[in-house]
Amino acid sequence: MEIIHVLMAEHRVIERMVALMKKELGSEALSSTVNPAFIYTAVDFFKNYADTTHHGKEEGILFKSLEAKPLSPEHKSIMDQLVREHKIARVEVAGLLEAAQRYERGDLDSVAHISAHLKRLIDLYPPHIELEDKHFFGAAMGYFTPEERKQMLDDCYDHDADMAHKKYVDMVLKYEGQ
Ligand SMILES: [Fe+2]
Ligand SMILES: [Fe+2]
Repeated sequence: MEIIHVLMAEHRVIERMVALMKKELGSEALSSTVNPAFIYTAVDFFKNYADTTHHGKEEGILFKSLEAKPLSPEHKSIMDQLVREHKIARVEVAGLLEAAQRYERGDLDSVAHISAHLKRLIDLYPPHIELEDKHFFGAAMGYFTPEERKQMLDDCYDHDADMAHKKYVDMVLKYEGQ
C-alpha cells in the first residue's frame, strides 16, 4: 500500500459524488427547483472530504514532499496546475453554499447560480482526477525512497485519524459562536 493508493481510492468516492450531482443537476434543470438538503450534503462532502481530507493529504503530504525533490519542469507544471484546481474547487464550493443559502431565503435567481457551481464542479473533477491517477501519481512516486514512501503512508493515516474529530469539534465551536 502506498499513499497514492489511498488517494486513488478516495477518487473513486469523489467520482460517485460527482455522478450524484450530475443526476441532481439533471432534475433541477427540468423543474427549476433545488433540494437544499442535497446541496448542503454536497458542500459538506466537498469541504470535509474532497478538500480537508483528500486535498489535505495531496497538498500537505505528497506535494509538500515533492517540493523538496528536483522535479522535472513537466511534473512541476502539473503539480502547480493541480494546486490551482484545488483552489478553484474551494471557490466553487463556497459559491455553492452561498447560493443555497440565498435560495432558502427565497431568492429564486440563485437556482441558476447553484446549477452553474454544480456544473463547474462536475466539469472540474473528472479531468483533475484523471491527471492525478494516470499522469502524475505514478511518476511522483519515482522521486522517493522506500523509507520516504512508508513515511508518507504513515502521515496519511495520521491525517485521516484527525478528520472526524476536526469536523465535529469545528461544528461544536461554530454553535458556541466562536
Ligand atoms: Fe487533487
Ligand atoms: Fe486527488
